[in-house]
Amino acid sequence: MKKIAILGSTGSIGTSALKVIEKHRDRFRVVGLAAGKNLELLRKQMEAFQPEIVSVATREASEVLQKLCSSNGIQVCHGSQGLIEVATYPKAELVISALVGALGLLPTYRAIQAGKNLALANKEPLVMAGGLIMKEVAERGVSLLPIDSEHSALFQCLLNCKKEEVRRVILTASGGPFLDLPMERFGQITVKEAIQHPNWQMGRKISVDSATLMNKGLEVIEAYWLFGFPIEKIDIVIHPQSVVHCLLELNDGSLLAHLGTPDMQIPIQYALSFPERLNSPIPRLPLTEMGPLEFRPPDKERFPCLGLACRALREGGTMPTVLSAANEVAVASFLVGEVQFLAIPSIIEETMEQHQCTPLSSIKQALEVNQWAMERAKALINSKYKNR
Ligand SMILES: NC(=O)c1ccc[n+]([C@@H]2O[C@H](COP(=O)([O-])OP(=O)(O)OC[C@H]3O[C@@H](n4cnc5c(N)ncnc54)[C@H](OP(=O)(O)O)[C@@H]3O)[C@@H](O)[C@H]2O)c1
Repeated sequence: MKKIAILGSTGSIGTSALKVIEKHRDRFRVVGLAAGKNLELLRKQMEAFQPEIVSVATREASEVLQKLCSSNGIQVCHGSQGLIEVATYPKAELVISALVGALGLLPTYRAIQAGKNLALANKEPLVMAGGLIMKEVAERGVSLLPIDSEHSALFQCLLNCKKEEVRRVILTASGGPFLDLPMERFGQITVKEAIQHPNWQMGRKISVDSATLMNKGLEVIEAYWLFGFPIEKIDIVIHPQSVVHCLLELNDGSLLAHLGTPDMQIPIQYALSFPERLNSPIPRLPLTEMGPLEFRPPDKERFPCLGLACRALREGGTMPTVLSAANEVAVASFLVGEVQFLAIPSIIEETMEQHQCTPLSSIKQALEVNQWAMERAKALINSKYKNR
């Protein structure tokens, strides 16, 4: 029985992870859950899975939760320390890292330091401090398995060849809801349109990241750190059907591909059960009814976030941290109607231009740079981009 703690249990990945665990109760047991504000859902999850420790965003929320589920012996904590308590809970063997944004960096890092194996969905910590995280993973001898569907697919393809035989890694991108929208219409994009992903049901931030293609840029950085391929070997191809999750081009021109129904329960389950492959009730790909699969190059002019992410990775050091932080702030501002969709790449680019890039040597430094970039991006929004 694998004992699991979930950071972000009430989110899109967290709830999918619990569906997987529900179907395999003989294999997995939940010992810890951490959520933000959705107390009603967390309470239901606590009833269903009986964790030993839970955490919520604030002290007030933890007091409400304690009243809701009085005297059942569950340890209730809160805030950033609460996330760390769940991430390092002694009985947890595997931690599912599914918080969103920079918030996940410290608890994810502390989980590794505490010797936990990781199933990683929260990609921003890898973007912010991938070198430090991978070094800690190696030194502690823990396993880090990706949940992101493209990286799970890449991990699986790589089991079938040697890394030196790979000429090109091809990450596929759906292209998001604005794949064919003319540039002149980008100024009128609404929040509702931006969070309507054609193939995946996801949280609000990653949905906007998919619409700007920043998500794919973050995934290039994620692939760089997870698998150690140089940026020149990582390519992006737009594949609107989201059926092929990645391709590996080998030295002899052969392509290895991973295909599957676009449902996050599949890569989540694989990350939990690896090296085993368990049954899944997710509908099979209806191959003969699917229609054609398309592949096209990305349009870097309409989607400049892709280029910004590659530039940040090339510059290295603290620049990817700045990219991630500025993006997080710009997306949050867009989601509350403060800035236009079109302003997102400009805010990120200007924040990057104001940053003096230095080597990244500690998690503390990554958090400080993240804070600096968030404040810079907020200042730019207030002075230049708000409600224009
Ligand atoms: N969704 C996908 O299909 C998908 C696919 C690949 C990778 N990812 C990555 O996985 C991560 C999670 O994505 P998601 O779509 O699942 O996000 P989401 O639906 O927005 O979920 C975020 C989770 O974080 C919790 N949270 C937010 N603020 C918090 C705080 N201050 N303290 C404690 N918990 C807090 C939320 O709790 P409350 O809701 O209770 O406030 C929720 O449980 C992201 O990094 C994303 O890029 C997602």
